[in-house]
Amino acid sequence: MRKWLLAAAAAAVIAAPASVMAQAPIIIKLNHVVANDTPKGKGALKFKELAEKYTNGKVKVEVYPNSSLFKDKEEIEALQLGSVQMLAPSTAKFAPLGAKEFEALDLPWLFKDDETYAKAMKGPVGKWLFQKLQAKGITGLAYWDNGFHMVSANRPLLMPTDFQGLKVRISGSKIADQYFRLVGSIPQILAFSEVYQALQTGVVDGCENTASNYLTQKFYEVQKHITVSYHAHLQYAVIVNSKFWNGLPPDIRTQLDRAMDEATDYTNSIARKENEDALAAIKASGKTTLHYLTDDQRKAWQTAMAPTYKWAKGRVGQEVLDLIAKELNVNMN
Ligand code: LMR
Repeated sequence: MRKWLLAAAAAAVIAAPASVMAQAPIIIKLNHVVANDTPKGKGALKFKELAEKYTNGKVKVEVYPNSSLFKDKEEIEALQLGSVQMLAPSTAKFAPLGAKEFEALDLPWLFKDDETYAKAMKGPVGKWLFQKLQAKGITGLAYWDNGFHMVSANRPLLMPTDFQGLKVRISGSKIADQYFRLVGSIPQILAFSEVYQALQTGVVDGCENTASNYLTQKFYEVQKHITVSYHAHLQYAVIVNSKFWNGLPPDIRTQLDRAMDEATDYTNSIARKENEDALAAIKASGKTTLHYLTDDQRKAWQTAMAPTYKWAKGRVGQEVLDLIAKELNVNMN
């Protein structure tokens, strides 16, 4: 009997490494399309650091920046299929998920400043939009900020007529498609990773984006004129596959929620400064000319693009527009 016990104990010792091996870390693949040195890039790395720390290494987060695993459209498919577990796409790219209501956030001059944007996303608007995702098997964890869009071309864009005939790259939103059409340009959807080359070779003439993206993707090197118009806002939703997320051990999920909350506060606290610094670096490069709209020029853009609001109703539905109107105290017509 004793001999048998000893043999069992020995077997248990031999088996120990196997049981340790069986507890391999849970891997979260987080794919995104921008550089590490941007608000989203830094946010992803912060989440990795905190998630691994709070779970004592039980979770390992693999961050794939710059479309290194998947490009825009593919990453959404990959999330649905479970080839990646976490993404942070711009909300302008949510129509393929069956949630085009997110495009309401792309309305021109919707948010008057960073604070108004942040308040809206923390309140009923942000929550309502995340509910739309639930039905699609996707869970929204957080909104990450990346400030306001500028717009560029190889000619100065100061009045709406300057856009006439311009081929402008957009990221996916039909709302952006609409406001660029209203000023006479021809919008074209392209994956983010293809924009630099498309600008360089003349496949498109112009684009819109935030300063941090212009800098890190070097768009400013192939665009002679940038208008610091801040005509629309760029924000991300951090999303996970619900089946994966709900299948995690509850204590792990709690720690990941904590890591995400802190990474979100961090990202949103650096976004403005990151973009200000990026704009200063673009200016210092001397490779492009920055333009700022006068009040009259801005009003002319706003008037030309205003019909987007009425048009949006058919695209995103009245409900989200009413919610936003109430929250921001703005007129949606
Ligand atoms: C774009 O495609 O222009 C942006 O959505 C890229 C990003 O993620 O900031």
